[in-house]
Amino acid sequence: MMKFAIRFHSKSGNTRLLADAISEVLDVPAYDISHRLTEDVDVLFFGSGVYGCALDPGVVSFISDIDVKVGEFVNFCTTGMMTSNYDLIRDVLSTTGIALSDREFHCPGSFVGLNEGRPNENDIADVKIFVNDFLD
Ligand SMILES: Cc1cc2nc3c(=O)[nH]c(=O)nc-3n(C[C@H](O)[C@H](O)[C@H](O)COP(=O)(O)O)c2cc1C
Repeated sequence: MMKFAIRFHSKSGNTRLLADAISEVLDVPAYDISHRLTEDVDVLFFGSGVYGCALDPGVVSFISDIDVKVGEFVNFCTTGMMTSNYDLIRDVLSTTGIALSDREFHCPGSFVGLNEGRPNENDIADVKIFVNDFLD
């Protein structure tokens, strides 16, 4: 059986909605980044946003400090304008030995009048479909 974990950082709750949906599909808890990984996992689903064109420093620390074996890192994110934070995540991960999946999930997240109501019901349905593919 594949072992999964979910971690996320969410300032305003947008990415947390995706994390909670992923948690429902995988039936594993979605914890924020104050919870270090304590055991090896096959797949880590990791979610965050982008703030001032950058990752939150806590996200960078969490990833840099991973000291268990992660088979594959799957990125999910919500952003205001950027299409994804994938490249920023890839840069941080490149300082570790952890492999970044080329599959990722992104949807817009509400932000000062932009993307109102996102993630919405369709986004939640889409992220569940995305995660289901990892179970096949
Ligand atoms: C202080 C701040 C700065 C932000 N800067 C950016 C940015 O540079 N580019 C972008 O695409 N989105 C930006 N956003 C939008 C967030 O990435 C977006 O709202 C995201 O969904 C937040 O996720 P969260 O609610 O999980 O923290 C910013 C949001 C905040 C609050």
